[in-house]
Amino acid sequence: MKLYNQVAMITGGAKGIGKAIANSFANEGATIVLFDINDVVLNQTADNIKKRYGIEVITVVGDVTNYNECQTAVKNILDKVDKIDILINNAGITKDNLVIRMSEQDWDDVISINLKGVFNVTKSVVKSMIKRRYGRIINIASVVGQIGNIGQINYAATKGGVIAITKTCAKEFASRNILVNAIAPGFIATDMTNNLTEQQKNYICSVIPLARFGNVVDIARAALFLASEDSSYITGHILSVNGGIYM
Ligand SMILES: NC(=O)c1ccc[n+]([C@@H]2O[C@H](COP(=O)([O-])OP(=O)(O)OC[C@H]3O[C@@H](n4cnc5c(N)ncnc54)[C@H](O)[C@@H]3O)[C@@H](O)[C@H]2O)c1
Repeated sequence: MKLYNQVAMITGGAKGIGKAIANSFANEGATIVLFDINDVVLNQTADNIKKRYGIEVITVVGDVTNYNECQTAVKNILDKVDKIDILINNAGITKDNLVIRMSEQDWDDVISINLKGVFNVTKSVVKSMIKRRYGRIINIASVVGQIGNIGQINYAATKGGVIAITKTCAKEFASRNILVNAIAPGFIATDMTNNLTEQQKNYICSVIPLARFGNVVDIARAALFLASEDSSYITGHILSVNGGIYM
């Protein structure tokens, strides 16, 4: 078991990519902490993981945009489980529109969750990692942060920012044995991409060398690699899991 005795906290862990990572880590023996704003789905996912793997799952209903809420949540988690070895900054949303039609609210909402949320949770968790001289932080970025995308000025800005955060934190925390990496997924089949039209999906597949959307397990496998001892000399890396759409 690659994560035996480790505690992994996953933001946005109720569904999609976060849920797949939670299942994969639970399968490798980790204790799972799920932090999500959607209490109903969060509890369903936690119950499923508990039943399937017979392990402890801690749930926190919280909003990554709220700094104080993140601080309190992490304090409560540490009171219960003593440590957080692995942090997956995964919570994210899209609110797409062309630049000329993008509302200020949609800009602010995406920046708050996808970018400020990463700062809020990282800052809340990292002090305990520094004390223990151990940590793995994995940020979920996006290919859109690497190449841009029409209709996603807010989202692209956050994901480019997440890449910059990853490299900055990797440099700041390296001396404390805390590795910080990012995964940059391409187009993955989840609720986030579900509202694309068939025509849009067909077009996207036509420009992906592997000619398909990725699935959540493709991302979970990459996350497991970055969370485990298999990657112990890798930090500040942006791991593309994108079917070749950007090389
Ligand atoms: N699906 C893709 O194609 C794709 C591609 C590249 C990157 N990503 C990134 O992967 C991550 C997960 O995306 P997904 O496709 O699984 O999406 P999803 O919509 O299925 O899941 C997102 C999760 O984040 C939670 N969340 C949203 N706002 C929150 C907040 N304020 N506080 C706490 N939790 C919150 C949601 O409740 C949900 O459980 C996101 O960061 C996304 O940008 C997704």
